[in-house]
Amino acid sequence: MIDFHTHILPGIDDGSRDIQMTEQMLEKEAASGVTIVYATPHFYAHRTGVSGFLAKRDASYRKVRELLETREDLPSLRVGAEVYYFRGMGRAEHSPGLCVEGTDILLLEMPFEQWTEEVYRDTKELILKRGLRVVLAHVERYTGFQKDRDVWDRVMDLPVTIQMNAGSFLKFGMKRHFCRNLLRQEAGRVIIGSDCHNLTSRPPNLAQAMDFIREKEGDDIVRKIEETEKRLFCQPM
Ligand SMILES: [Fe+2]
Repeated sequence: MIDFHTHILPGIDDGSRDIQMTEQMLEKEAASGVTIVYATPHFYAHRTGVSGFLAKRDASYRKVRELLETREDLPSLRVGAEVYYFRGMGRAEHSPGLCVEGTDILLLEMPFEQWTEEVYRDTKELILKRGLRVVLAHVERYTGFQKDRDVWDRVMDLPVTIQMNAGSFLKFGMKRHFCRNLLRQEAGRVIIGSDCHNLTSRPPNLAQAMDFIREKEGDDIVRKIEETEKRLFCQPM
């Protein structure tokens, strides 16, 4: 299993506090059958420059690599970022450092408000002009803001990969209902990530969500999710 969306790097964002917590989070991932973890710390263009962010991320990543050298039982780690949307980003120069390590995949966090025409245009340009493969982070978290569904529908018509959070499948309620419906409709382009931040309120919980999906939606849907992951990460740049 691959956990594509995590805040497991220590001391860089609101995720893991320190290397001890990172170690425990990785242990939890390993115990549940996760073999590859992508560390995707938050990147906010309005708060930090790219080079400052990358330097901080590298320093944090180095600590985890040192740990992994002594712990062969833990999953392997690759880095990326969860890049928050900013106006005009479709036209901005992009640092390959913000993509998932060794790929042209951008994990994009969309605005938590009504999406506008500009949001649509930027997303489209990231794909068509910048040549990036866009993964929309935790799509279920934006839907409540889309009173007008027009832009949402058009963004979803773009060739984006849809990421949903494991936790959204694990709690009874509207969000779970939404996720299950979207998963059924879009099974060929959905991936699930834990978006874990810690060991308690937002822990690594990918395996529980996959078990739930397998039980409720069937093996075929799980297979499609796995195929989507394979296609996404094995495709050459
Ligand atoms: Fe996240």
